[in-house]
Formats: sequence, structure tokens, C-alpha cells
Amino acid sequence: MPHGRVVITAIVSRKGGVGKTTTAVNLAAALAAQGYKVLLVDLDSQASTSLSLGVSRWALAPSSADVLLNSYPIADAIRATRVMGLYLITASTDLTSLDRELGPLPRRESLLKEELSEVADSFDFVLIDCPAFPSLAPVNALMASDCYVVPAVPHYLAIEGVRNVCASADRLCQRLGSPTRLLGIALTMVDYRTRASRDNVGQIRQEFGERVFAIEIRTNIRLAEAPAHGQTIFEFDSSSPGAEAYRLLAEEFVLRAGLMGGLALPTKRTALANS
Ligand SMILES: Nc1ncnc2c1ncn2[C@@H]1O[C@H](COP(=O)(O)OP(=O)(O)OP(=O)(O)O)[C@@H](O)[C@H]1O
Ligand SMILES: [Mg+2]
Repeated sequence: MPHGRVVITAIVSRKGGVGKTTTAVNLAAALAAQGYKVLLVDLDSQASTSLSLGVSRWALAPSSADVLLNSYPIADAIRATRVMGLYLITASTDLTSLDRELGPLPRRESLLKEELSEVADSFDFVLIDCPAFPSLAPVNALMASDCYVVPAVPHYLAIEGVRNVCASADRLCQRLGSPTRLLGIALTMVDYRTRASRDNVGQIRQEFGERVFAIEIRTNIRLAEAPAHGQTIFEFDSSSPGAEAYRLLAEEFVLRAGLMGGLALPTKRTALANS
């Protein structure tokens, strides 16, 4: 059966601690649970995505750093995870030298795109978790992607942060001739008990309108606890509000990916048992 083309998405922000990794891990796991074949690429030297999926700190190699810096074959850096349909390229602390080592290279912004083009077609979705801007990691992620998602915590000045990251990403993509577009702004750690959170959600929705995902990820302690157990929220507590929120976000994500002009809606591939 013919399948739609892969959709590659970078998860980016200018701020740290806004839920990029939590979203990358649990959105990827939710998509895999829906029957899609998903590759999660960890580009953050902290390797939080890799550790959140239960990879030990001593087993991070071969990582995205080896692929980008040491010409390690990307196909060999892809590993199966415990989650059926979810595959991972880990990160490692070697990524801290990415900017220094890639800086002088003419292809410094498109290296990941070149590498991913070799393997992406065997997946329905590729999600890329990035460190905060500015660095060559999110630049490479944006260049390699069809679209990007911006997680945002509805705090004071969150609007500024979202405006800035969207403007930087769009400027960069225009300068480098990449058609990468915003897929959506995902509100994370929303807490309706505080008036500030309510007000800020309202302001963000007013300013960015339909660019904001309808589904909001509320603050849920189970989402913060799962990574310490090396588990996705679906393994750790699949009946938690956090799990339900990421399930719904994945549904909206698939719809948005399909509706975005030019992007064919991926069809679920036969999920192969991970071995
Ligand atoms: N909805 C949520 N409810 C409760 N805690 C959350 C939620 N989302 C994320 N967290 C917690 O908030 C912290 C920051 O989240 P996360 O690591 O996903 O952000 P990040 O943007 O990837 O950060 P960094 O910029 O450091 O990579 C983590 O401890 C995470 O467990
Ligand atoms: Mg992170």
C-alpha cells in the first residue's frame, strides 16, 4: 500500500525548561501508540530525551554527535526503544562542541538534513528535540524539518519568547531557502489555578490565534516524574491527565500535519515489533 511522505518536525524554543523534551518524548510515544512509525532525534547535549526513554548515561554512543561530527552512519545510530514503533537517535555531551566543530564548514546548517534524507523515508514521523536557540543544533533541526512546534509555558513575557522564536526561525528558514513552517504553538504546564496562567493563555491565544494548538498540556506531576523512571507517560501512568493530554495533542498534530498545504497525511506503517 502506498504511504504518505514522512513529516519531519523540530521542537524549538528560545527559552529553556518550557517542555520541549517532555513534548518530544510523549508526542513521539503517542504517535507510536497510534500505529505510526516514529524516529525521535535527540540533539541536546544534556541527552534528556535519551535518558527519559531509559537509555543509560553510559550507553549513549553511538549518538547524533557521532553522526554529525564523526561521519558515523546514521542508519547504524538508530536504535529501537521499548515502545513499539518508536526509534531513537541518542544525544551525548559531545554535542557541546557542535558549534565549534561545524562552524567553519560550508554545510554547517544542512548536515542533519543530508544525513536524515538517507533514513527518514522509512518513518511516518521524525521529531527532533533541540536545545534552546541560538545554536547550530536547532538551526540544523529547522533546516532538516518540514515544520516546527514551539512549546510555551504561559508565564509573564511568554508572548515575547514565542514571537522571538517564530521570527528567528522564519528569518533563518527564509535566508537559507528552507520551506520549514510553524505547525503550532503548544501550551505546556498550563495551570488554571493561577490567574496569571489563565490571563497569559488568553493573551497568547489572542495574539497567535489558530497557530496555537487547541489542546493544552496542563501541569501534571506525573509528567515530571516519568523521566526519572526512564519511561514515557504512557508506560509510567497511562491514565494520568498528562497521558490523555499528549494523546489528544498527537491527534491534533496529525491533523495539522495533514492539513498543512503540500504535506501528505502519513498513513500508518505496519508497526514492526521492536527487537
Ligand atoms: N506538563 C507538565 N507538568 C509538570 N511538569 C512538567 C510538564 N512539562 C514539563 N515538565 C517538567 O518541567 C521541566 C522542564 O521540562 P522539559 O525538560 O521538557 O523542558 P525543555 O524545554 O526540554 O528544557 P531544556 O531547555 O532544559 O531542554 C522538567 O522537569 C519536566 O519534567
Ligand atoms: Mg530539553
